[in-house]
Order: sequence, then C-alpha cells, then structure tokens
Amino acid sequence: NIMVAASNSSSSIPPVILTQDELKKIAAYKAVEFVESGMVVGLGTGSTAKHAVDRIGELLRLGKLENIIGIPTSKKTHEQALSLGIPLSDLDSHPVLDLAIDGADEVDPNLNLVKGRGGSLLREKMVEGVCKKFVVIVDESKLVSHIGGSGLAMPVEIVPFCWKFTAERLKMLFEDSGCVAKLRLGSNGEPFATDNGNYIVDLYFKKDIGDLRAASDSILRLAGVVEHGMFLDMATTVIVAGELGVQGAGL
Ligand code: 5RP
Repeated sequence: NIMVAASNSSSSIPPVILTQDELKKIAAYKAVEFVESGMVVGLGTGSTAKHAVDRIGELLRLGKLENIIGIPTSKKTHEQALSLGIPLSDLDSHPVLDLAIDGADEVDPNLNLVKGRGGSLLREKMVEGVCKKFVVIVDESKLVSHIGGSGLAMPVEIVPFCWKFTAERLKMLFEDSGCVAKLRLGSNGEPFATDNGNYIVDLYFKKDIGDLRAASDSILRLAGVVEHGMFLDMATTVIVAGELGVQGAGL
C-alpha cells in the first residue's frame, strides 16, 4: 500500500491509504480525460491499461463519448473491449491513431520506457508508434532513473526457431553489463507464447547498458529477434499516481 495525501497526516483527517491497483485506476481515469468523441484510440494491455479500457467502455455506455474506434494491442484487450461494446478496428484500416493509452514497466525521466513484462510488446509498439499522442499510465513504483538498470526484466520477442541460439547471442551483446538471458515460461512450465506465436527472452543486467539507442539497434540487428521492450522517444505524456496525488509529464 502507498499512502496518498500524506500531508494530511498531521491533521485530524485520517490519511487515505490507496492500494497499488487504486493508484493505477486513478492514473487510467486521468488519461481517459484526453479521449474525445470521434477519436481512434490505441487500447493498451496490462492491469493499468485495463482500467482505462473499462472507463472508455463506461463513458460510451453513458453517452459521454461517441464514435470511438479502439485499436487493441493484444488479444486479451481485444476481448475486454469487445465485451464492453467498444467498436474496434486495426492498423490496416486505421494506420494513424489520435491517441493511445497504455501502462509501462519502467519509465525514466526522459519518458523512455520498458514494456512487455505482460508479453504484448510487439503489438503495443506497432500501435503506439503511429499515434499522435501516447499517454503512459503508471503508479510511482514504475519510475526509474534509467531504464534497464532496475535489475528487472528487459523483454525481447524472438522467433521460436533455435531460441537458445538467439538467447545466447543476446546475452553476448551485453556481456560487459553482466547480462543474463532467460526464456520466459508460462504457468504450465512451457515456453510463454506471445499473441504472435513467438517466445520472449527476458534480459537482466548487472550493470548499466549505456547508450539506449545503440543497445536497441544492436538487438534489432540480430536475426531471430522480432522486437524488444525498450520504447524510446515514443511516450508524449506520462501520468503517475502516487503518494503526492497525480502528477504528469508532457501534459
Ligand atoms: C504489457 C505491458 C504492460 O503495459 C506493462 O507490463 C505494465 O503492466 P501493468 O499495468 O500490469 O503493470 O507492456 O506488454
């Protein structure tokens, strides 16, 4: 739990304790304020984005939003949006989006992101790479000084063919950073398969990976790699819900 409005702790009003999920919901609802009737909207994936999709569905039902077209970033979000009655389309029909709203695993002060711990990074990057405004919603636990340095996973989507070979080459790229490359497994112990039928290798670094653009280029140059979870220079706005209420960058 994270304490919100801690400043009232000295007054007689008891401080309000919000759970991490409530903070995610606050950030999501704030982001949905950017959605206007008639927009084509990218619908993100994960526990934070889920709240935004729910809210868009609710506003449509209440008649407060009209003529929205949603572009889902995963099969799961597609199902959620369908169940809420949000009209859906895809990038073939709508190659430019007005707005996308999605969560992130890490956000640095330059609004660079790590995404994909939920496994949807490829579709997310395709959709969020063509939107005029990309609003990222997080609780403050996701803020880092530099991405890749948290000791947590940096996901890379790879083709299943000879995945060990590709994982080893990824590891060797970042040998100087003490990289460990692990194939992601599903709850059944089998390799986790993305919506695109690919695998995910999670990279863990002991030391900073340095220049992010150079790291991105070297990962993408490896045959066998489909995409990675570094989202560089893509987010236009970040909304953070935390101890001091809701804060934003690029609002
Ligand atoms: C999925 C993602 C998610 O946006 C990211 O993992 C954040 O998820 P959550 O909101 O559940 O913390 O990139 O591929």
